[in-house]
Amino acid sequence: EKGGHSSFMEKEILEQPHAIADTLLGRTDSDGALILDELNIDPERLKAIDKIIIVACGTAYYSGLTAKYAIEHWTRIQTEVELAHEFRYRDPVIGPNTLVVSMSQSGETMDTLMAVKHAKELGALTIAICNTYGATIPRESDGALYTHAGPEIAVASTKAFTSQIAACYLLGLYLSQLRGGTYADDARSIMTELSEVPAHVQTVLDGMDRVREIARFMADSRSVLFLGRHVQFPIALEGALKLKEIAYIHAEGFAAGELKHGPIALIEPGQPVFIIMPSHDTPHDLHAKVVSNIQEIRARGARTLVITEEGDEAVRPFADEVIEVPKTSMMMMPMLSIIPLQVFACELATAKGLDVDQPRNLAKSVTVE
Ligand code: M6R
Repeated sequence: EKGGHSSFMEKEILEQPHAIADTLLGRTDSDGALILDELNIDPERLKAIDKIIIVACGTAYYSGLTAKYAIEHWTRIQTEVELAHEFRYRDPVIGPNTLVVSMSQSGETMDTLMAVKHAKELGALTIAICNTYGATIPRESDGALYTHAGPEIAVASTKAFTSQIAACYLLGLYLSQLRGGTYADDARSIMTELSEVPAHVQTVLDGMDRVREIARFMADSRSVLFLGRHVQFPIALEGALKLKEIAYIHAEGFAAGELKHGPIALIEPGQPVFIIMPSHDTPHDLHAKVVSNIQEIRARGARTLVITEEGDEAVRPFADEVIEVPKTSMMMMPMLSIIPLQVFACELATAKGLDVDQPRNLAKSVTVE
């Protein structure tokens, strides 16, 4: 069933161009307007939404964190992202116009299910973004949006992650279209960018030889750090989680801006650091700010592995390795930048002789609180 691949994880990483394309399939009409009938929620109810809370765990939480940047930017609706188990047992502020979006590959994660039930009790409207048809979480929710990524077998989530971002972007664009906000007019061009993501992901996958080589060299690493900024910050967190989960290496993701507030103390000669660059079109010169961060850690001996868009000359003087992804817009970058980090973790764990599909102590679906 692995189709000749060494693991399900490897297979699922390679399936991402199709998985994302399937998430996007059939979501627009002939005029390019979004249709999300599948949600089965009265559009008038959605128009009134004044706050969004995304609840999820693990990788799904990181896809929510990524989508927050786009949803707030496109809809101007305040959006929070919270770990489902934290949301459930504090005292969140929920009103009738609060939309709680749960994100879950399996649709069976107990922590997320409890958060959804709690949100409903408090009167929120609930939508599940899910990859498994008829699972408990979408059944318990007012509406569902399926990612259609196909079954994910490996414990480490890969194609579900990129499809969740795509699905959450669809929801954001749909809300912006319904509300006629600032970005409603741009929704079509953003949809075009989104529809180009699968081909870009394929390009990234086709160029992974060097990343695999680096992973094999780094099989003995004791600690790897990941830095990202803006929409790439959650990618640093997800890259670190992949490495922890399947390669059992201490890994931590940081917001690049946070470096000088503490984490830079960790940098000593030889410390490998992945830097996930924001694209050049990210506002406020954030690209340049992250280049300065690379410079700072390099001066302290860090080994810098930089993931950035092609043709980025600014990072070259400070990068030990440059891993390029195709040029796209800032919001689409995360779906391309995560690919090398998934491949890196998978290859490194394989080089260590570990069972990448069944990491120790973990289950694919966590059905207890
Ligand atoms: O099925 P779910 O998306 O609700 O699962 C949530 C997390 O348990 C899951 O993403 C977990 O963190 C993965 N092992 C990550 O690779």
